[in-house]
Amino acid sequence: MKPMRVKVDDRCCQGHGLCNVEVPEIFKLRDEDGHAYVEGPEVPTGLQDAVRRAGANCPEQAIAVTD
Ligand code: F3S
Repeated sequence: MKPMRVKVDDRCCQGHGLCNVEVPEIFKLRDEDGHAYVEGPEVPTGLQDAVRRAGANCPEQAIAVTD
């Protein structure tokens, strides 16, 4: 089974930060502009539901999840 992957589109992210509140293990915020990034695209099984929620809740729809 392929692992779930996630990425943040920096052109869309406006630094709302909800993703970091929801899943700080996955979504980090850059010091310089507060935009989100992921350190690695693969999402551990136990965090997948939370990452999907973060994707649904991002006001800019900047989070893309691929199964
Ligand atoms: Fe950016 Fe959306 Fe997170 S705007 S900081 S990806 S909630």
